[in-house]
Amino acid sequence: VRVYIPRDSAALAVGADEVAQALQGAAGESIELVRNSSRGLFWLEPLVEVQTPQGRIAYGPVAPEDVPGLLAAGLLQGGDHPLRQGVTEQIPYLALQERLTFRRMGVTDPLSLADYEAHEGWAGLRRALTLDSAALIQEVTHSGLRGRGGAAFPAGIKWKTVAGAQAAQKYVVCNADEGDSGTYSDRMTMEGDPYMLIEGMTIAAVTVGATQGYVYVRSEYPHAIATLTEAIRRATEAGFLGDSVLGSGQRFHLEVRKAAGAYVCGEETAMLESIEGKRGIVRAKPPLPALQGLFGQPTVINNVITFASTPIILARGAQFYRDYGVGRSHGTLPFQLAGNIKHGGLVEKAFGLTLRELVYGFGGGTASGRPIKAIQVGGPLGAYVPEDKWDVPLDYEAYAAFGGVVGHGGIVVHDDSANLAQLARYAMAFCALESCGKCTPCRIGSTRGVEVIDQIRAGGAAQPQQVELLRDLCDTMLHGSLCAMGGMTPYPVLSALNHYPQDFGLAVPETQ
Ligand code: NAI
Ligand code: SF4
Repeated sequence: VRVYIPRDSAALAVGADEVAQALQGAAGESIELVRNSSRGLFWLEPLVEVQTPQGRIAYGPVAPEDVPGLLAAGLLQGGDHPLRQGVTEQIPYLALQERLTFRRMGVTDPLSLADYEAHEGWAGLRRALTLDSAALIQEVTHSGLRGRGGAAFPAGIKWKTVAGAQAAQKYVVCNADEGDSGTYSDRMTMEGDPYMLIEGMTIAAVTVGATQGYVYVRSEYPHAIATLTEAIRRATEAGFLGDSVLGSGQRFHLEVRKAAGAYVCGEETAMLESIEGKRGIVRAKPPLPALQGLFGQPTVINNVITFASTPIILARGAQFYRDYGVGRSHGTLPFQLAGNIKHGGLVEKAFGLTLRELVYGFGGGTASGRPIKAIQVGGPLGAYVPEDKWDVPLDYEAYAAFGGVVGHGGIVVHDDSANLAQLARYAMAFCALESCGKCTPCRIGSTRGVEVIDQIRAGGAAQPQQVELLRDLCDTMLHGSLCAMGGMTPYPVLSALNHYPQDFGLAVPETQ
C-alpha cells in the first residue's frame, strides 16, 4: 500500500518525520512510503494519505501516538477514524482552488524526474525550444503574467528588454529571498516542485539567450536549498540543464546562492550586490538590471512564482492562462493565509476573489475564535486592510486604488486583541533594523518614526502636532526613498493610523 507523508518544512515542523517513523515501524514492508510535498492545508499537517481504489484518503493532523489506533481502524484500506478527512482532492479547501502552478504539489515526489515528467513536466520547455525568442516573448506577454514577487511588472516586457540587449553574457537570476511576513509559496515550490522552477528559469534563459543562472535563496530555508541543489544536480545529469539543454545546443547552467539573512537583499539590486560577493546595498536605478544587472550584464530577475508560472503558460498556451483573473490581473496567485487564522495554508485562486472569501471561506476565521480586526495584505510593507475593504476583488489595480498592495499574496490576520499602533511602531522599527542605510528618508526616517509613534501613544497636549509630524515623515519616506523598503513602510503605518485611530489614543472621527 502506498502511503504519502510530506517532507515540506511546515509538515516537518509539526512532526511529519516522527509520524513517518512510527508508521514505517508499525507497518513495515506492507507500506511503500512516499515523502511528498505538502498539499498546503497546514492545519491538517502532518497529513497522511493512503492510496486506495477510491483515490487518496487523507488523515490529519496525525501524531505518532495516533498511528496504532489508525492502523487498527484500517488506515491502509482507507478505514474510518476521527482523523479521516475523506478523499484528499474532495476536501473543500483543496477542491475549491484553481491550482495551476501548484497542481503537482502533494501529488508527486518532489525529486522524482519520472513523476515530474508524468505530470506535464518539461512540456513547456519542450515547446519553448521549438519557438524563437520573439514568439516566446509574445507568449509570455500575451499570457498577462506579471511579476509575482510583489511589483507586478509585466514579465514579457522585462524579458523583451533583456532579449534585445546586446551582450556577450546574459544572466537569469531567481529571487528566492522570500522575506515577506506570512509567505511561503516560494519555499513550498522549491521544496515541493523544484523542477518547475528549473524549467521556468530555463525557458527564460532560452528566450533571452542567457547561459548562466542563479537562484538566490534565503538562508532560513535549509530544506529548500538542499532540495533545489539536488534537483539541479539531477536535472543536469538528465540533460535538462547543462551544455546542451535537451540536445538543443542551448547552454544553461544553474547554481544556488545562499543569502545571509538581510531582508533588504530581497530588493533586486541589493541581491545582485550580494551575489557578486559584496554587501547588500541598494543600487540606484537606472540602469535597470534588465540592461546592466549581475556583473554589469543584462539580467532577467524574477521571483520563484513568476518563473514557476511560465511552464504551464508554454505548455497550454498563453490564452489558457490569460483567461483566469480579472481586469489587468491575469492568471492565478498562490495566496498564503497566516497569522491568527483557523485554517492556515496555501490557496491558489484566480485574481478577483475577495479577502472575505479567503479568510472566512477558506480560512474559517481566526484561530482564537475572536473577531478579525485587521488583515495585513502584501507583507510587512503592505497596508492593514480594514473591514470595509474586505469585499474589494483581489486584483493589483483595485488594491492600488485604495492604497493597498496585493504584493506576494501574503495575508496575515489579526483578531481584536491586536493593537494597531503597536503594529505601526513595529513597521517603523522593522524598517530601522533592515534599512541598508543608503538614503536618508529610510535610514533616519524610520528611527524618528518609532519615536513619533511613541509620543503619539503617550498622548498629551502635543499629540495633534505629533500626528501631523508622522504624516509628514511618511510623505517624505514615500516620495524620497530609493527603494520599496523605506518607500512602502508608510503603507502599514498610515493604514493603521487612518483606520484604527483609537489604538493610537486618538478620537475616532464621526464618520467611522
Ligand atoms: P519596481 O516597480 O521598481 O520594479 C519591478 C521590476 O520591473 C524590477 O525588476 C525592475 O527592474 C523591472 N522594470 C521596471 N521597469 C522596467 C523596464 N522598462 N524594462 C524592464 N524591466 C523593468 O519594484 P521593486 O522595487 O523591484 O519591487 C517592489 C515590490 O517588492 C513591492 O511592491 C513589494 O510588494 C515587493 N516585495 C516583495 C517581497 C517578497 O518577499 N516577495 C519583500 C519586499 C517587497
Ligand atoms: Fe536602503 Fe532604505 Fe534607501 Fe532602500 S529605502 S535604499 S533600504 S536606505
